[in-house]
This record gives sequence, C-alpha cells and structure tokens, in this order.
Amino acid sequence: MMIARLSLLAAAALGVSVASAQTVISAQGCTSRSFSIPSWFISDLSTSDEKTSFTVLNRATNQTAAYECQGANCSAEEEIEDLVASVQLSGATASVSVNQTWVCSDRSPQTKFIAAGTSSVSLTDGKAASSPLLVKGSLLQPVAVTPQYNEGPTGHDTPGCLAKSEKPSWILSHVIWADQDGDEITSVKEQRLTFILTNVATGYEASCMSQGPVATNIFCAGTEFQSFTIGRYSISTAVEFDPATYSLTVNQTWFCDDHDAAKPLQISGSGTIALPLQCKTEPVAESPSHLKKFCTVPDDSSVGITGALGTVVTLAPYSIEDPVPSNQDSCTISSIFNPRWQFSYFSTYNNSISFEIILQTNRGFRYPNPVYQGKATEDNGWFECDIGYDGGSQVPDGPLWPYKCQFAYDEGTKELQLKAEWECTELDLGNPVRFSGVSTTTVNSNIVCEKVEHREYTDEPLGEGEELTIPDPVGVVDFCYTENPSFSWTGDIKDVTWTSGKRA
Ligand SMILES: *[C@@H]1O[C@H](CO)[C@@H](O)[C@H](O)[C@H]1NC(C)=O
Ligand SMILES: *[C@@H]1O[C@H](CO)[C@@H](O)[C@H](O)[C@H]1NC(C)=O
Ligand SMILES: *[C@@H]1O[C@H](CO)[C@@H](O)[C@H](O)[C@H]1NC(C)=O
Ligand SMILES: *[C@@H]1O[C@H](CO)[C@@H](O)[C@H](O)[C@H]1NC(C)=O
Ligand SMILES: *[C@@H]1O[C@H](CO)[C@@H](O)[C@H](O)[C@H]1NC(C)=O
Repeated sequence: MMIARLSLLAAAALGVSVASAQTVISAQGCTSRSFSIPSWFISDLSTSDEKTSFTVLNRATNQTAAYECQGANCSAEEEIEDLVASVQLSGATASVSVNQTWVCSDRSPQTKFIAAGTSSVSLTDGKAASSPLLVKGSLLQPVAVTPQYNEGPTGHDTPGCLAKSEKPSWILSHVIWADQDGDEITSVKEQRLTFILTNVATGYEASCMSQGPVATNIFCAGTEFQSFTIGRYSISTAVEFDPATYSLTVNQTWFCDDHDAAKPLQISGSGTIALPLQCKTEPVAESPSHLKKFCTVPDDSSVGITGALGTVVTLAPYSIEDPVPSNQDSCTISSIFNPRWQFSYFSTYNNSISFEIILQTNRGFRYPNPVYQGKATEDNGWFECDIGYDGGSQVPDGPLWPYKCQFAYDEGTKELQLKAEWECTELDLGNPVRFSGVSTTTVNSNIVCEKVEHREYTDEPLGEGEELTIPDPVGVVDFCYTENPSFSWTGDIKDVTWTSGKRA
C-alpha cells in the first residue's frame, strides 16, 4: 500500500487507484447477474455534429460493442444481437436508452431475459462528464421487476463529501470519561469512555464506548448494524485513548462518490486531540481509600478534531450501491431453477397435523416456520394451512415460507402433499415475485405415538395478582412425531408458476 500524497481531487479526477481495493467481487454467472444487475455500462460517449458514439457493455453477459448513432438511432458494425440502443441529446445532456433480449445458458433451463432502461449524463465539450454511465434496467422477462440497489454507507453521496474529505475532521460530543480505582474487593476498578463521533464530510455518526475494565478497547458503531441496505462497503472506526494524557486518536474509513458515482473512493483518515476534560475526583463511598474520577467536556460542548488523509482507494464503478454478490442462490433464483421445501418437526396431535417449513435457498438467519392444520377444504382429505408465527416478515427478503397453502397427509403411506404460494422480495420489494407449486413427499421416518393428557389453556391475559394455573386435563389424545424429533427432509416443488406484482 502507498500512502496518498496526491490530492484527493486529483485522484478522483484521474480515477487512479492509490492502493488496491481489498474487497474482491466474487464471480457470478450470467443468470444470477441478469436477475440482480440487468444493466449496461456506456463508455467513451462522445458527440459531435449530430453523431454520437459510445461502447455498450451488458453487465450480466459481458457482451460489448461500439455503437454509432445517426440522430437518435444507434447501430454497431458488430451489433449485439437483439440490442436496441438510442440516444437523445438535449442541451448539454445525453440520454441513452437500451433495450435488450438475451439468453443465459449457465443454468438449466436456459432463460431468456428482456430488460430496458434509460440514463442521462451531462456533456463537457461533447464528452460524457462521467464514465462509464450506468444504465439500470428493469426486467420485463422472465419476471417484471426493477431490481433494487443498495443505499451504500452513510453520506457517500452527500454533496461536498469529497471536498470536505481533503481535510478530514470530526466532531466529538457527549464525551464522558469515568475512572474508578479499586482493589476488586471493596470497590471495582472500572474505566469507561463514551462519546459520539460525527464525520464532517459524510455526517456519519458513530456511538463509541470502551469495553471492559480498562479503556483500551474502544468500540464504535453507527447505523450499519441495523441496515440491510449498506451494500458491500461499511464505514469502520478505530479509536485509541490514553488515560494519562487524555489523548484521543480517531482512525476512520469512509466513502465518497458525490463527485462521480463512476469513481467511488474509499478514504481513510486519522486525527488526534488532547480531550479538554474537566474532572471531579472523590473517594469511592464504600471504600474511601480508592478514588473515582468523572470527567466531561465543560458545558458538555462538542470538540472538533482535524486530521490528515490516509489511504485513498478508487473502487469499481458504482460498486458502492451495487447488490452484493452471494455464493448462494437467492429466493427468486432457487424458486425458478431448483425449487425445494425443507420440512421438519412433523407431528400430529389428536390427528391434527403440523410441521415446519422453509424454502431451500440462501436463508441468512431465518429459521423454518410452523404450519398447523386449518379448516378442511372442499377437496377430500385436504386442509388449509394455518401459518404460524411469521418471524420473517420484517427482513427485506421476506419470509421464505408459504403465505398460503393446503396440504393432505396419508397416514398409511406417510405421503405429504403440499400446494403452496410464496413470494420473493429480494429483487424488488415493491413488486415481489409470486410463486406457486406443488410438492409430494414422504415423511421418511418412524413415527412414534404416545398418549398425552389434553389440557385447555385460555389466551386470556393474567389478571392482577392472578397466578398461572395449569388447567386440569379434559381428555387423553394421541401425540405422534418423528422418532428422531429433529428429522428434516426436502421435497422438490413441481409445476412452479410465477408472476410479479404488488405485494400480497
Ligand atoms: C466478464 O469479463 C471480465 C473481464 O474480461 C471477467 O473478469 C468476468 O469474469 C466476466 N464475467 C462474466 C460473467 O463472464
Ligand atoms: C430511426 O429509426 C426509425 C425506425 O427504424 C426510423 O423510422 C427513423 O426515421 C430513424 N430516425 C432517424 C433520425 O434516422
Ligand atoms: C423493449 O423491447 C421489448 C421487446 O422487443 C418491448 O416489448 C418493450 O416494450 C420494450 N421496452 C421499452 C421500455 O422500450
Ligand atoms: C488507520 O487504519 C488504516 C486501515 O485500518 C491503517 O492502514 C492505518 O495505518 C491506520 N492509521 C493510523 C494512523 O492508525
Ligand atoms: C380430538 O379430535 C376429535 C375429532 O376431531 C374432536 O372431536 C375432539 O374434541 C378432539 N379432542 C381434543 C381433546 O381436542
């Protein structure tokens, strides 16, 4: 790594990598990329005398060709098949539209995609002011969705992000330093440093606190821990504090692309300040031979830190907001190319069936959801699913289990049939892809039964001073379950259909 000595603005203008980016973008196939980034890069766009030329790269297929436009219509000597490109010039702005049909054969069955999109760029002396230009596409086929991009780390596109990063600065507020001496018997040795750190260039706020008895291990965190839309880059902060001198050093890495989304920068900077702390020292009440010190910045005012620029790395174009490639298939891709349910916890209680279910896909931290036997349907032997606690509805990818289903179970053959409808929201939250399909599977485990006393609990909340009482049994019923209680199995889903539209 080389420390940046050239100005940030110069680095940004040149698009040079001052150091190489650490993050390797994992390779993904045509199909995955077509769902997540149906889009084109337009490079070398220039225009003169009604003639415009540029190079198109399809980011999903890697096809590329050089186009020339007469008026709005563009063509290429070696055209990309089924690609229609056009350009609209209006003052110092060029607006490029692309509409393409392509086929990916890396998955079975091979899949036809149709996508279209438009994007504009301002022109300087007949050349695009930013390059490449990203033309984000909406898919028309195989599903009509507009794949969403990430928001990126806080403040990356705040106007002035880059300019203010030239001279990194932070504001510290709500600073507290507490230091208590102790022998660990009559009083506890304890040190605590807390403050809020705001980066002036991005507006990013981190809450910092020390952990453990000695304030060397200082941990800072911002909104990144609650957000699913940060993308692949997140702001990191390291802080050092010397209790003897009150010297505090901040070292942070943040991101700016306000100057040009095609040339996002990863910027590190650090700064040191002696905190102007005012302290009160008094004996510990329980153990007067030990002292406790409590310090704040007078009037609880904030403290500014001015620092120096560290390393600057130019990241891949638009990578800040791009979807993060995954090594596992998403909900939509699994549902189309390899649809399977994973079942577990099959049981019957007084002949009423229940099991747990989840789609076999990139699950993240989601767990199977219970399905109980609901009303009998008109179809003999079939029951509505009574879908249990929906612990997946708050995550952006949505629940990975049916929102509606029906099932039939044959006790003799242990065959479980399921007709289900489910949806995938990871591509386009506003337009989920809705699936339906049937699976026929066997509960391939010994089923053991026991008689259990049935008690009826009420849902009524406990009254004031009332204790939870266990009701008397009202009968004896059969409770049956798989011999290995954690037995799980998968079932292929057949006759899958899909459509996209507003949320169910
Ligand atoms: C596209 O081309 C680049 C560079 O030529 C290569 O690194 C990448 O793996 C290719 N991607 C696909 C999907 O073929
Ligand atoms: C562009 O192409 C369309 C259809 O091919 C044609 O009708 C139109 O005249 C063309 N426009 C120009 C400016 O060449
Ligand atoms: C793109 O082309 C397809 C098929 O050629 C067409 O149905 C669709 O309307 C076009 N979309 C746009 C936005 O031009
Ligand atoms: C700040 O952190 C970066 C990245 O972790 C590191 O390379 C650099 O040496 C650190 N700078 C200081 C002054 O600690
Ligand atoms: C068990 O099921 C039968 C038939 O569905 C029902 O009549 C009976 O009330 C149930 N018993 C209990 C204890 O729930």
